[in-house]
This record gives sequence, C-alpha cells and structure tokens, in this order.
Amino acid sequence: MIYLDNAATSFPKPERVYVGMDAFVRAAAANPGRSGHHMAVQAEAMIDDTRRLLARLFNAPRPERVVFTLNATDALNMAIKGVLQPGDHVVSSVLEHNSINRPLERLARDGVIALTRVPAGADHRIDPEAVAAACTPRTRLLAFTHASNVTGAIQPVAELGRVARERDALLLVDAAQTAGVVPIDLEGSQIDLLAFTGHKGLLGPTGTGGLAVGERADVDPWREGGTGGDSSSAVQPRELPYRLEGGTPNVFGIAGLRDGVRYLLERGIDTVLPHERHLLTVFFTALRQPDRFSFFGAERDFSERGGEGRVGLLSFNLEGLAPVELAMLLDEHFSIAVRPGLHCAPYAHRHLGTFPQGTVRISPGVLTTEDEMRAAAAALDELATGVA
Ligand SMILES: Cc1ncc(COP(=O)(O)O)c(C=O)c1O
Repeated sequence: MIYLDNAATSFPKPERVYVGMDAFVRAAAANPGRSGHHMAVQAEAMIDDTRRLLARLFNAPRPERVVFTLNATDALNMAIKGVLQPGDHVVSSVLEHNSINRPLERLARDGVIALTRVPAGADHRIDPEAVAAACTPRTRLLAFTHASNVTGAIQPVAELGRVARERDALLLVDAAQTAGVVPIDLEGSQIDLLAFTGHKGLLGPTGTGGLAVGERADVDPWREGGTGGDSSSAVQPRELPYRLEGGTPNVFGIAGLRDGVRYLLERGIDTVLPHERHLLTVFFTALRQPDRFSFFGAERDFSERGGEGRVGLLSFNLEGLAPVELAMLLDEHFSIAVRPGLHCAPYAHRHLGTFPQGTVRISPGVLTTEDEMRAAAAALDELATGVA
C-alpha cells in the first residue's frame, strides 16, 4: 500500500513511536496523579514531559498551559465553548473544517453568538484586512485554520494575531494540518488558543491532541470531573491544566505522542515542510499529463515556487471520473490510499467550486518516499489515459 492520506492521519509512524509506546505502557501505564505510588508518579512524569516538549515545539508560554484533549475537534470545542458568552461576535472563514464550523453554527443558530464567515481570495487565503473590517465592538473571537485541509494554503496567522490584539479579541488557530509540519510560534504570532491534533503531523496515535492556552485566554471547562489533585473542592480547580483536564487522560496515546514529538524535535521541525513540498514537486515533475487534471493553481505553486506558502497536500479532479470513483480505482488497482469528497470542509469546496462532489486529496508525510510519489503520478497518468 502506498499511503498518501497523511492529512487524515499519519501512517506509518516512526518506529520509535510504536516501540516507545509499547515499552512505556507495559511498564508504567498507571493512572497519573491519582494514587501517588511509583507507577502513577512515572505516568504523570511522562505526561508532564510531553507537555514540556509540546510547549517547546509551539513556543507556548508555560507547559501547564498545554492541555491534553482527544483530538483537534475536542480542543476546538473546548476553546469555542469555553470562551464565548451570550452576545459575543465571532469572525471565521469559509476555509474552516467542520470542527470549527459546526460548534459556531450551533451557537449562532441558538442565538448565543453572531457569526461572520469571511470569504477567501483567489489565492485561497484570508485577507487580515477583511477580518479587521468584519470585527464589531462585540467581537470576542477570531477562529481560523492555520492551513486549509482542502487547498493546503497557509494562512497569515501572525497578521490575524495582530488584528485580534487591535480589536481586543482572542485568536483561535486550528493547527490540525500544521502542528509538526509548519514551525509555530504561539507567542511570536500572538496566538491565544492553539488547537492541535496528535495523530497527524505530530506522529502520535489517534485519540491524542491538545489546546495550548495563551496568557490572555481564560477558558471555562466544558468537561468537569476528577483531576487527581484536591478532591475536597466542590468545583473544578482554577489552575491549568487541571481546569480543563477532568477525567483519566489517554496515557497510552500520550506515551506514543511523546515519541512522535521527540522524533520531530530531533529531526528538526524545519525539515518536514521542505520534505513534503519536495515530494509534491517530484509528483508534478513525474506527471506526464498534468493538463488533464484540475489542480486549482497548485501545479504552478509546486513547479515554479517549490510549494511556498502551502503545506504538502494537494486537491484535484480528473474530468470524467467522480472523486470517489478515482479514489476507489487508485485503491483497488494501484493500492494507493487517498481521500475523496468534501474533507469535512463544505464551504472550502464551495469556494473552489467543487461542492458537492469534492476533490481527491493526496497528502504525503514525513516517511513518504520519492518513488511512492512517482508511482502515484504514473497511476494517475494511466487512469487519465483510460478516461480519455
Ligand atoms: C483543518 C482541520 N481541522 C480539524 C480537524 C479535526 O481533527 P481531528 O479529527 O483530529 O479532531 C482536521 C482533521 O482532518 C483538519 O484537517
């Protein structure tokens, strides 16, 4: 199998993730912070170590402000429902994943918040000036993806951070497609809330993710319960991470995530994006019939600009074959795994003009090889010839 669906979840993981996770959970998978015995202390130390590594990776102010969640969806819901109050206004965009769209839409439909969704430009980017213009005196939150999971375009988060400060709003960034791929500087980019998932670019297992909470943000818990600390209090503690971490954490998953992050820090986070862009450049160089496909401008981005301004994913269509059929043929005849459809981002496909069928998305990862990209190009050429 040639796995080109890393934007959905990364596969394979580096070997040390499997080995490290297995070794840790056999030795010390106790309930952290609960019991005080040796194994529980070891489990808690592992979790704190992972927090520390993530804070380093994202230049987050303090490790205790990195809170573990189930995934990016969980972190985005936690942030959105934890900061918004009745009467607040939110600015978001058409490029968002449903994990931002849906919680905001429900709050808007329930009359709790007012929501403005700004359009994307022809370059698939959000204009920070349009965001500033959309703000009202009641704007409390700006909620944007760092890179679209449909177009791959990296958004101007530092400028959005500036707009948020000027308007006294909070900036929530969905880093599902960028954590572990694009260097992120929480403090430098003035990001108040960074939602990330552990199972994509951070190379950990599914069921992991987190929310990094900047110093300006105060997030109310949307899940309350045991934290292992002071059980006598009738309410959730105020201190992070406990305020947002009720319940037993995913010790198995976080052990794997720690090894994913260690791998990235040792390899150098700066090497990941060039690798993925290089792989897509190899793909375009190998493709003999690029004109048969619609790439929404991506072919020029990769052949002329080395993929600058984009993460390593690519959406496209082939005339004569629905995305779902194309993906099925790739799977059945070439053993190539890709993702067709709307990618949980319906407004992004409306923006591209590809709603409701969507596109086919290929997404290499850190362990994808040039040969695999050439094989994908050859398979697509063969399919394009077949429908000519
Ligand atoms: C841009 C974006 N946001 C959020 C998510 C949700 O991530 P998760 O499924 O890990 O919650 C995804 C996953 O595909 C994504 O691509």
